[in-house]
Amino acid sequence: MRRLRRTDALRRMVRETRLSPDNFIQPLFAVPGKDVKKPVGSMPGVFQESVDQLVVSAKRAWDVGVPAVILFGIPPEKDAIGAGSWRDDGIVQQASRALKDAVPGLVVVGDLCFCEYTDHGHCGVLHDGHVHNDETLENLGKQAVSLARAGVDVIAPSGMMDGMVGAIRGALDGARFDQVPILSYAVKFASAFYGPFREAAESAPSFGDRRGYQMDPANAREALHEAQLDVDEGADMLMVKPALAYLDVIAALRARYPHPIAAYNVSGELAMVEAAARAGWIDRQRTILETLTSIRRAGADEILTYWATEAAEWLG
Ligand code: PBG
Repeated sequence: MRRLRRTDALRRMVRETRLSPDNFIQPLFAVPGKDVKKPVGSMPGVFQESVDQLVVSAKRAWDVGVPAVILFGIPPEKDAIGAGSWRDDGIVQQASRALKDAVPGLVVVGDLCFCEYTDHGHCGVLHDGHVHNDETLENLGKQAVSLARAGVDVIAPSGMMDGMVGAIRGALDGARFDQVPILSYAVKFASAFYGPFREAAESAPSFGDRRGYQMDPANAREALHEAQLDVDEGADMLMVKPALAYLDVIAALRARYPHPIAAYNVSGELAMVEAAARAGWIDRQRTILETLTSIRRAGADEILTYWATEAAEWLG
């Protein structure tokens, strides 16, 4: 086996998995205001940005070959149902319009959820402390249409409501947005690895947890069931989230579906690497590239990663 490992050129010849900026989606966090660029303590290198700053970050990503960003919004005020998420002048709507103006070619993905917009931090309308599925679906339709109207190119529902893809497809088609694809967070686990994100998005639930709607980390067959339902409802792309602890699930979906498959290299995965690198315990760049390669090797076409722009720069 060592004959083909002898030189860098030989290794390049037989390399099976390649990383390209084309594979990356850069997450960005929009906050109200101007000239705001506020570091997220638990996510080194990640910022909450006002729209003007977010546009600069998106341009940087685009200029090094990253084709897409995904937007999260932190609204000026929250309420019980998350109505701020479907306002015409909502924070993500503003960011999307500004991006369409400044970087016309860029693919703008909109994360579709309510946890950043509700005062209780859960992903929908509450009844007796539980998220009511079908009332939430109705609101997801409103949010999807509002984002599409603001120029969002791809709708990415992350709330794990049953029937969300079908409901959103129906709402989009009804508003003549039949050309807007859905990237479904089809397989999203109730994960401890989201901890740092909840600081970035100010979306931690005020009581309880998300285990009533997100998946049990122990279940792989159920992941196939979830994916199948979303495929049946018309999902254009499927996402697995988180990525690293679920590479087997990515591989299982890859084997079963022809659809593009995305994986979310989540906040906790970033935080672990950054913390170990700061302590001098690992080589940061090598660890990041190895991480991203492993997610591609498992079968993901797209990787949502906070390192998108930086890794694209390295790949040059
Ligand atoms: C929900 C959402 C979450 C993430 C992306 N979309 C958090 C959650 O379900 O609590 C997590 C992303 C990350 O951890 O990097 N809108």
